[in-house]
Amino acid sequence: MTPLRPGRSTVAVHGHLSRPRAGEPVVLPVHQSTTYVQEVGGGSEVRYERYGNTPNQLALARKYAALEGAEAAIFLSSGMAATAMAHLAVLRPGDHLIASQFIYGGTRKLFDEEFGRFGISLSYIDPSQPRAWRKALKKNTRAVFFESPTNPNMRVVDPAPIASIAKEYGLALLVDSTFASPINFRPIEHGADVVITSGTKYLNGHSDVTAGAVAGTQSLVDEVVRLARTWGPILDSHSAWLLDRGLKTLALRVARQNSTGLAVATWATGQRKVQEVHYPGLATHPDHAIAARILDGFGGMVGLVVDGGAAGAERFLRRLRVFTHAPSLAGVESLVSEPRLTSHASLTPEQRAAQGIPDGYVRLSCGVEDAEDLIADLKQALDGL
Ligand SMILES: Cc1ncc(COP(=O)(O)O)c(C=O)c1O
Repeated sequence: MTPLRPGRSTVAVHGHLSRPRAGEPVVLPVHQSTTYVQEVGGGSEVRYERYGNTPNQLALARKYAALEGAEAAIFLSSGMAATAMAHLAVLRPGDHLIASQFIYGGTRKLFDEEFGRFGISLSYIDPSQPRAWRKALKKNTRAVFFESPTNPNMRVVDPAPIASIAKEYGLALLVDSTFASPINFRPIEHGADVVITSGTKYLNGHSDVTAGAVAGTQSLVDEVVRLARTWGPILDSHSAWLLDRGLKTLALRVARQNSTGLAVATWATGQRKVQEVHYPGLATHPDHAIAARILDGFGGMVGLVVDGGAAGAERFLRRLRVFTHAPSLAGVESLVSEPRLTSHASLTPEQRAAQGIPDGYVRLSCGVEDAEDLIADLKQALDGL
């Protein structure tokens, strides 16, 4: 009997269940064609890759929408394209956006350097203070945005008070859920209108495709599609096929990354040369209670502050053998990066310290290697400090 409501692992593999016919390929082939035969006289839909309506693009979007519990979704050529198109879909010239101050540096740049030209103004607030959202409201506020868990301290934002303010004032609530993936958190279940994800990270999971996705109501996604057709940042069919292949193991990968993240964070907590451990699965994390309530897993991202400041971090990084020093996250291979040189490079050391990111901070993205090997690698690198 076909399950009435397939679980997320099943959806990640199959998308919508259908009865295959004998002789059909088990895997949807990549349709490497930018254009499709059109009926003479204009009776059929125009199928063109930039329109986002090729078989691979449509199958991927439907599957991701089902994983998020959304009516619809669309894949774009990067997470930044998804963030830009999603906001342009809900904001108009003269509108005001309230955003969490703990957001990806690229998103901050987009808001600060590009939104002004559309006459969109911004206020940044501390997302853990529900009263701050209300205080920042203006007559022209049209939307609110936060990211959760945040980079690099893995702060987990409680969506309930923000969703209730958004509802009360008729604002669109947009959430960047990249660090969670739909396996650990589904913003729409918590009142969000729009989910934004960098597909480059957990959705694809193999550090070999750049992509982004927007999920929400059909009308919201229709508007993003309309914008994307004009501005052009659609995900091509080949990349969509690759991303779909990655997505099939999303639930497996994230389950493994959740358990490894917890093992690494727990181990690191007892280490003499580790000054701080940031992981929402630890009782010491400021948002542990919220995380335990709303997340299905604490994730594979762990923040550590090692002894010796910037020089200590550099010595530590040079000794690592299993972790690779590279920006980005969420692939099957474990990566490590320093926020002072990547996402938070534009801030002074003092500004970073005020945000809880002192020099010596290293951000780990746990892959799917053996947890014991990752811990052994971290241990031998710490021993060299
Ligand atoms: C939380 C978050 N959102 C969005 C992005 C942008 O994604 P992309 O690099 O795919 O454009 C990133 C990239 O690191 C990110 O960490």
